[in-house]
Amino acid sequence: MLQQAARPQRISLRSSLPTARPGLARTRGKEQKREVIAPERGKAKPFLKWVGGKRQLLPELEPRIPSHYGTYHEPFVGGGALFFHHQPRRAVLSDANERLIRTYRGVRDKVEDVIGLLSSYPHDRDFFLEMRGIDVDRRSDAEVAAWFIYLNRTGFNGLYRVNRSNIYNVPFGDYDNPVICDADTLRACARALRHTELLCTSFETVVDRTRPGDFVYFDPPYVPLSPSSNFTAYTRGGFGMAEHAQLRDVARTLKARGVSVLLSNSSAPVVHALYGDGFELASVGATRAVNCKAAGRGRVQELLIR
Ligand SMILES: C[S@@+](CC[C@H](N)C(=O)[O-])C[C@H]1O[C@@H](n2cnc3c(N)ncnc32)[C@H](O)[C@@H]1O
Repeated sequence: MLQQAARPQRISLRSSLPTARPGLARTRGKEQKREVIAPERGKAKPFLKWVGGKRQLLPELEPRIPSHYGTYHEPFVGGGALFFHHQPRRAVLSDANERLIRTYRGVRDKVEDVIGLLSSYPHDRDFFLEMRGIDVDRRSDAEVAAWFIYLNRTGFNGLYRVNRSNIYNVPFGDYDNPVICDADTLRACARALRHTELLCTSFETVVDRTRPGDFVYFDPPYVPLSPSSNFTAYTRGGFGMAEHAQLRDVARTLKARGVSVLLSNSSAPVVHALYGDGFELASVGATRAVNCKAAGRGRVQELLIR
């Protein structure tokens, strides 16, 4: 019975993708023409909720961007708060999360298809559960984008979490009226992304593509502030002390080469120690969820490092 319940899910989801499957197949080759992007409506801003998003730190980050630079690089792009705010002319955005990067590509290259799909998706727990289970990696970038944005808007707290088999496993968020399709913002983001290169790669590869005069903003997963948090678990296949030390070395190499760097991280003592020599540290205030309870938000100090 369980298996039977699982199988029709794909069929019902497929039938709810009217613009995606038959539409895309029929119009291949003409897709560029269909993408009529409205000229000035909507402002580019993160189209995803992203844990650790930097929107509230923008007033501190913006003045630390050099007034002149070659290419803008953001190797932990996540929701891209600084990129969308600053809108550099030439940019390389990357992240280790392949579905995230395919989502950016879908929005950049096929925004009208993404909007068409998202507008057809209902806010409904059963549909959410069907979406969670599909084998999305076999779909087009536009479909991956619609999938990612839908789950991000309707899943609990906008979290992105997968199990060992890379299956998204965040519960339904049960929000009253989530905005599933913000078409104007998506079109504005597509315009902002038009001349960007989008790469799925780990942060250290940035060394191979930067030139003197470029600017790199690194916003890695933070070193946890509290020693009681799950830092050890975090390091397993994730981002632990070895990666933080490697990141510091990458930043050092880039600086020596004449590349401007800016990093953000928590104000944990180990971060002060890592960047104590040869870097300039500034402490800035940010409002963050400081424990796992919804009410546990507070003002914490974070570090901006150059
Ligand atoms: C703190 S978030 C970035 C938030 C982003 N600045 C924003 O405003 O939304 C960290 C990002 O690093 C990515 N990441 C984790 N390990 C990585 C690695 N080794 N190389 C590149 N990206 C990685 C995660 O997928 C996540 O998107």
